[in-house]
Amino acid sequence: MKPLIVANWKMNPQSLVEAKQLFNSVKRGIKNIKNVEIVICPPFIYLSNIQYLKSNIKLGAQDCFWSERGAFTGEISPSMLKNFNCKYVIIGHSERRKLGETDEMINKKIKAAISAKLKPILCIGETEKERRKGKTLQVLKNQIKKDLNHLISQSLNHLIIAYEPLWAIGTGNPCEPKEAKKVYLFLRKILKKIPILYGGSANSENATSYIQEAKFQGLLVGGASLNAQEFIKVVKNIDLFLKFDKMV
Ligand code: PGA
Repeated sequence: MKPLIVANWKMNPQSLVEAKQLFNSVKRGIKNIKNVEIVICPPFIYLSNIQYLKSNIKLGAQDCFWSERGAFTGEISPSMLKNFNCKYVIIGHSERRKLGETDEMINKKIKAAISAKLKPILCIGETEKERRKGKTLQVLKNQIKKDLNHLISQSLNHLIIAYEPLWAIGTGNPCEPKEAKKVYLFLRKILKKIPILYGGSANSENATSYIQEAKFQGLLVGGASLNAQEFIKVVKNIDLFLKFDKMV
């Protein structure tokens, strides 16, 4: 599998014009990239337009609901996303958990996404307090256990995990690759072959170290993905590292 670089635009940008500009700039910048799979997750409302801006960038959503249809005001179903050419969907992001999303809800969303043939990117991570108390690995284990409850092993082939320490998200204070590697090795034992991404203040300067040093299979990039040049640099740096790695 190629490393996965996922842009999470969150609730940005403010207009469709800006969203198209950002997408097109990234598209131009990465057109010769072969070693990396690039995914952009814009707000729902931009998906219908962006899907027609043909490129080798894959589309993802930032959330989905667990039912296919019905009286669920404000929700979007996995098959609706599939119909808009989404291949991926972020589920259980800490910013959604903070709004009240529970592990039980996340579990239902993952099952529904896989049934609709989407690839869920499940976000897990510990708070600063849990980290200070040395509870990181326990917290992650609990989240995995609950979020993947009763998922059959075949479904796991479609899953991606993103390790996103909460204290590193949007703070400019990334988890050092050395610390992230310890978590990676722990997760790798539990998750067998499931790809694991790192997320939390990833940028063009630290991107390669998470792949090279900490051995993650990719990145989930928030803030740095809103600046086309910065995001292109993230992708290019990883692509370059992979080319070089193949040569030696
Ligand atoms: P950040 O966000 O890169 O801005 O820290 C990552 C995320 O929340 O997915």
